[in-house]
Amino acid sequence: MSNPQFTRDGAGNLDQTLRPHSWDEYVGQTKTKENLRILLTAARERGHAAEHVLLYGPPGLGKTTLAHLIAKTLGTNMRVTSGPAIERVGDLAAILTNLSPGDVLFIDEIHRLSKSIEEVLYPAMESGVLDIIIGKGPSARTVQLELPPFTLVAATTRISLLSAPLRSRFSGGTFRLEFYDVAEIAQILKRSAELLEVSVSAEVLNDIASRCRATPRTANYLLKRCRDLAQLEGSEVTNDIVQQTFDLLEIDTLGLGAPDRAVLHAIMQKFNGGPVGLNTIAAATGEEPSTIEDVIEPYLIRQGLLERTPRGRVASPEAYSHFS
Ligand SMILES: Nc1ncnc2c1ncn2[C@@H]1O[C@H](COP(=O)(O)OP(=O)(O)OP(=O)(O)O)[C@@H](O)[C@H]1O
Ligand SMILES: [Mg+2]
Repeated sequence: MSNPQFTRDGAGNLDQTLRPHSWDEYVGQTKTKENLRILLTAARERGHAAEHVLLYGPPGLGKTTLAHLIAKTLGTNMRVTSGPAIERVGDLAAILTNLSPGDVLFIDEIHRLSKSIEEVLYPAMESGVLDIIIGKGPSARTVQLELPPFTLVAATTRISLLSAPLRSRFSGGTFRLEFYDVAEIAQILKRSAELLEVSVSAEVLNDIASRCRATPRTANYLLKRCRDLAQLEGSEVTNDIVQQTFDLLEIDTLGLGAPDRAVLHAIMQKFNGGPVGLNTIAAATGEEPSTIEDVIEPYLIRQGLLERTPRGRVASPEAYSHFS
């Protein structure tokens, strides 16, 4: 028996399959888009490399996508790397010296750069030079290399971990990506459904949009899971299929998943509603503190279910009424 022929449908790489390729396809984030449009167009008209830009916000809101659009708008190549991938000063030096004039260097997870590498990055960002120390001890000397003009686009889910000197060097601006409203997500899903060749009603799209934690990546993921179930049931993606998918994935009416509920339940049941510290919640739920802070908490705060106070996290009255 021969093996079935598999084609790549992007299952493992949803982000790339559905990633917008133009500003029109990039829904929402109006203020950020407008500011970037001015910054990039002006730089391009002057024939200069655009100034450095920092993008931050919870996962899946469109930082990487935006970086690609920035490079496309500037009409230059984008070199992609990430904080954890740059282990030694030499790694960064190799990347920087290999850039072509005007290139975009995208550093994802920039909060994970080590201190010593940050220090090499400062003069590169500020004056376009690379300071290399040759030799050791008293005979060590610094050689300065001139770099091609470039634009650093950096992304992070954890802006609080960036040092002040690093933050201050993003002279083109620091932009926070916001959660999306239901209409925006529905618009994103409409395009995704077309690309995936799934036929769905506006009502179904809205249903998914209202339960995706206001996050495009999650919305696209849910659409795909609905499509899978519809296929197995020999049906279209109906409201019923959507409901069944949410039940299977244990996603509730507010779009909360099991980890979201675990955090809220821990605060409400084990710690009397709070205030309780992040590490204590992490120990009680088995989640990493960083996952709680970067992934789980921002949406709970946005939904008014959780509050951050100086003494710790507190479950809001809305959290109690949601679960009652
Ligand atoms: N504004 C948008 N309009 C349309 N689709 C979007 C938008 N933002 C994100 N998406 C979709 O969501 C996916 C995830 O976005 P992206 O990879 O840019 O998120 P990210 O912020 O870089 O996440 P992470 O922090 O996990 O790296 C994209 O591939 C794209 O399909
Ligand atoms: Mg990304």
